[in-house]
Amino acid sequence: MNKQQAKIAVLIGSSNDNGNTIALVNAVVQTINADVFNLKDYQISPFDYEHKNSDDDFIGLVKELLLYDQIIFASPVYWYSMSAQMKVFFDRISDLLQFKKELAQQLRGKSCAILSTGSSPLPERSFEELFSNSFDYLGMNYKGMLYCFCNPSFNLKEHREDITQIPI
Ligand SMILES: Cc1cc2nc3c(=O)[nH]c(=O)nc-3n(C[C@H](O)[C@H](O)[C@H](O)COP(=O)(O)O)c2cc1C
Repeated sequence: MNKQQAKIAVLIGSSNDNGNTIALVNAVVQTINADVFNLKDYQISPFDYEHKNSDDDFIGLVKELLLYDQIIFASPVYWYSMSAQMKVFFDRISDLLQFKKELAQQLRGKSCAILSTGSSPLPERSFEELFSNSFDYLGMNYKGMLYCFCNPSFNLKEHREDITQIPI
Protein backbone atom coordinates (compact mmCIF):
# COMPACT_ATOMS: atom_id res chain seq x y z
CA MET A 1 0.00 0.00 0.00
CA ASN A 2 1.45 3.39 -0.91
CA LYS A 3 1.07 6.77 0.80
CA GLN A 4 -1.83 7.74 -1.43
CA GLN A 5 -3.86 4.58 -0.81
CA ALA A 6 -3.41 4.19 2.94
CA LYS A 7 -5.99 5.73 5.22
CA ILE A 8 -3.98 7.73 7.73
CA ALA A 9 -5.03 9.25 11.05
CA VAL A 10 -2.94 11.78 12.95
CA LEU A 11 -3.57 11.95 16.70
CA ILE A 12 -2.38 15.20 18.31
CA GLY A 13 -1.57 15.59 21.99
CA SER A 14 -0.31 19.12 22.60
CA SER A 15 -1.14 21.87 25.08
CA ASN A 16 -0.80 24.58 22.45
CA ASP A 17 -3.55 24.98 19.85
CA ASN A 18 -1.35 27.35 17.87
CA GLY A 19 1.93 25.71 18.66
CA ASN A 20 4.76 23.92 16.98
CA THR A 21 3.33 20.41 16.97
CA ILE A 22 0.10 21.55 15.34
CA ALA A 23 2.12 23.58 12.83
CA LEU A 24 4.10 20.43 11.99
CA VAL A 25 0.91 18.37 11.65
CA ASN A 26 -0.62 21.03 9.39
CA ALA A 27 2.47 20.94 7.18
CA VAL A 28 2.41 17.14 7.05
CA VAL A 29 -1.25 16.93 6.07
CA GLN A 30 -0.49 19.18 3.11
CA THR A 31 1.66 16.35 1.76
CA ILE A 32 -0.30 13.26 2.74
CA ASN A 33 -3.99 12.52 2.81
CA ALA A 34 -4.79 12.20 6.50
CA ASP A 35 -7.54 12.92 9.00
CA VAL A 36 -6.56 14.74 12.16
CA PHE A 37 -7.82 13.96 15.65
CA ASN A 38 -6.90 16.21 18.56
CA LEU A 39 -6.98 14.79 22.08
CA LYS A 40 -8.15 18.19 23.37
CA ASP A 41 -11.50 17.50 21.68
CA TYR A 42 -12.07 14.34 23.72
CA GLN A 43 -12.80 13.80 27.38
CA ILE A 44 -10.33 11.08 28.32
CA SER A 45 -9.48 10.71 31.96
CA PRO A 46 -6.45 8.95 33.44
CA PHE A 47 -6.39 5.19 33.78
CA ASP A 48 -8.63 3.89 36.55
CA TYR A 49 -8.08 0.40 37.97
CA GLU A 50 -11.83 0.09 38.53
CA HIS A 51 -12.63 1.30 35.01
CA LYS A 52 -15.16 3.77 36.35
CA ASN A 53 -14.32 6.01 33.39
CA SER A 54 -15.04 3.35 30.76
CA ASP A 55 -17.86 5.45 29.29
CA ASP A 56 -15.70 8.51 28.57
CA ASP A 57 -14.48 9.25 25.02
CA PHE A 58 -11.53 6.83 24.96
CA ILE A 59 -13.15 3.72 23.51
CA GLY A 60 -15.06 5.74 20.91
CA LEU A 61 -11.86 7.45 19.78
CA VAL A 62 -10.03 4.13 19.54
CA LYS A 63 -12.83 2.71 17.40
CA GLU A 64 -12.50 5.70 15.07
CA LEU A 65 -8.71 5.34 14.86
CA LEU A 66 -9.00 1.64 14.12
CA LEU A 67 -10.78 2.51 10.87
CA TYR A 68 -7.42 3.76 9.56
CA ASP A 69 -4.49 1.78 8.15
CA GLN A 70 -1.91 3.97 9.85
CA ILE A 71 -1.89 6.06 13.00
CA ILE A 72 0.59 8.90 13.43
CA PHE A 73 1.05 10.06 17.02
CA ALA A 74 1.98 13.76 17.25
CA SER A 75 3.40 14.99 20.53
CA PRO A 76 5.79 17.70 21.65
CA VAL A 77 8.62 16.77 23.99
CA TYR A 78 7.59 17.91 27.45
CA TRP A 79 10.17 17.14 30.12
CA TYR A 80 11.92 14.50 27.99
CA SER A 81 8.63 12.68 27.57
CA MET A 82 5.47 12.61 25.51
CA SER A 83 2.82 15.17 26.47
CA ALA A 84 0.61 14.32 29.43
CA GLN A 85 -2.39 14.12 27.12
CA MET A 86 -0.66 11.52 24.98
CA LYS A 87 0.53 9.59 28.04
CA VAL A 88 -3.03 9.37 29.34
CA PHE A 89 -4.07 7.99 25.95
CA PHE A 90 -1.35 5.32 26.13
CA ASP A 91 -2.21 4.48 29.75
CA ARG A 92 -5.80 3.93 28.72
CA ILE A 93 -4.74 1.35 26.13
CA SER A 94 -4.54 -0.87 29.22
CA ASP A 95 -8.35 -0.77 29.17
CA LEU A 96 -8.28 -2.46 25.78
CA LEU A 97 -5.95 -5.17 27.04
CA GLN A 98 -8.20 -5.80 30.04
CA PHE A 99 -11.76 -5.64 28.75
CA LYS A 100 -11.77 -4.71 25.07
CA LYS A 101 -9.37 -7.33 23.80
CA GLU A 102 -10.99 -7.40 20.37
CA LEU A 103 -9.95 -3.75 19.93
CA ALA A 104 -6.41 -4.38 21.21
CA GLN A 105 -6.18 -7.22 18.71
CA GLN A 106 -6.97 -4.80 15.89
CA LEU A 107 -3.91 -2.71 16.78
CA ARG A 108 -1.69 -5.67 15.94
CA GLY A 109 0.09 -5.09 12.65
CA LYS A 110 -1.25 -1.57 12.27
CA SER A 111 1.33 0.88 10.97
CA CYS A 112 2.27 3.79 13.17
CA ALA A 113 4.73 6.67 13.34
CA ILE A 114 5.63 9.65 15.50
CA LEU A 115 5.68 13.35 14.78
CA SER A 116 7.37 15.46 17.38
CA THR A 117 8.74 18.91 18.09
CA GLY A 118 11.11 20.13 20.76
CA SER A 119 13.51 22.88 21.65
CA SER A 120 16.58 20.63 21.78
CA PRO A 121 18.41 19.95 18.52
CA LEU A 122 17.69 16.25 19.01
CA PRO A 123 15.36 14.46 21.41
CA GLU A 124 16.71 12.07 24.03
CA ARG A 125 16.67 8.50 22.71
CA SER A 126 14.33 7.66 25.57
CA PHE A 127 11.64 9.86 24.01
CA GLU A 128 11.25 7.64 20.97
CA GLU A 129 11.58 4.52 23.12
CA LEU A 130 8.57 5.57 25.21
CA PHE A 131 6.51 5.12 22.09
CA SER A 132 8.36 2.32 20.35
CA ASN A 133 8.37 0.03 23.40
CA SER A 134 4.61 0.41 23.56
CA PHE A 135 4.24 -0.20 19.82
CA ASP A 136 6.32 -3.37 20.16
CA TYR A 137 4.23 -4.57 23.08
CA LEU A 138 1.04 -3.99 21.13
CA GLY A 139 2.41 -5.66 18.00
CA MET A 140 2.14 -2.49 15.96
CA ASN A 141 4.31 -1.89 12.93
CA TYR A 142 6.46 1.11 13.85
CA LYS A 143 7.79 3.09 10.89
CA GLY A 144 9.81 5.79 12.62
CA MET A 145 9.82 9.34 13.91
CA LEU A 146 10.00 12.76 12.33
CA TYR A 147 11.34 15.18 14.94
CA CYS A 148 11.55 18.90 14.27
CA PHE A 149 13.86 21.15 16.26
CA CYS A 150 11.85 24.31 16.88
CA ASN A 151 13.84 27.25 18.12
CA PRO A 152 11.79 29.09 19.10
CA SER A 153 9.04 28.12 16.70
CA PHE A 154 8.32 25.76 13.83
CA ASN A 155 9.80 27.05 10.59
CA LEU A 156 8.44 25.28 7.54
CA LYS A 157 11.41 26.26 5.38
CA GLU A 158 13.77 24.41 7.71
CA HIS A 159 11.70 21.23 7.75
CA ARG A 160 10.13 21.08 4.29
CA GLU A 161 12.61 18.46 3.06
CA ASP A 162 12.23 16.30 6.20
CA ILE A 163 8.46 16.36 5.84
CA THR A 164 8.68 14.77 2.41
CA GLN A 165 10.49 11.86 4.13
CA ILE A 166 7.77 11.30 6.72
CA PRO A 167 8.06 7.71 7.95
CA ILE A 168 4.77 6.13 6.90
C1 LIG B 1 6.20 21.88 29.84
C2 LIG B 1 7.25 21.90 28.78
C3 LIG B 1 8.32 21.03 28.86
C4 LIG B 1 9.29 21.02 27.84
N1 LIG B 1 10.30 20.11 27.92
C5 LIG B 1 11.16 19.99 26.87
C6 LIG B 1 12.16 18.98 26.86
O1 LIG B 1 12.31 18.20 27.79
N2 LIG B 1 12.96 18.88 25.77
C7 LIG B 1 12.83 19.74 24.70
O2 LIG B 1 13.57 19.60 23.72
N3 LIG B 1 11.90 20.72 24.69
C8 LIG B 1 11.05 20.84 25.73
N4 LIG B 1 10.09 21.81 25.72
C9 LIG B 1 9.94 22.65 24.52
C10 LIG B 1 8.88 22.07 23.60
O3 LIG B 1 9.09 20.70 23.34
C11 LIG B 1 8.84 22.78 22.25
O4 LIG B 1 8.69 24.16 22.42
C12 LIG B 1 7.71 22.20 21.42
O5 LIG B 1 7.92 22.53 20.08
C13 LIG B 1 6.37 22.70 21.90
O6 LIG B 1 5.34 22.14 21.12
P1 LIG B 1 3.86 22.69 21.26
O7 LIG B 1 3.88 24.09 20.69
O8 LIG B 1 3.03 21.75 20.46
O9 LIG B 1 3.54 22.68 22.72
C14 LIG B 1 9.16 21.89 26.73
C15 LIG B 1 8.09 22.79 26.68
C16 LIG B 1 7.15 22.80 27.68
C17 LIG B 1 5.99 23.77 27.59
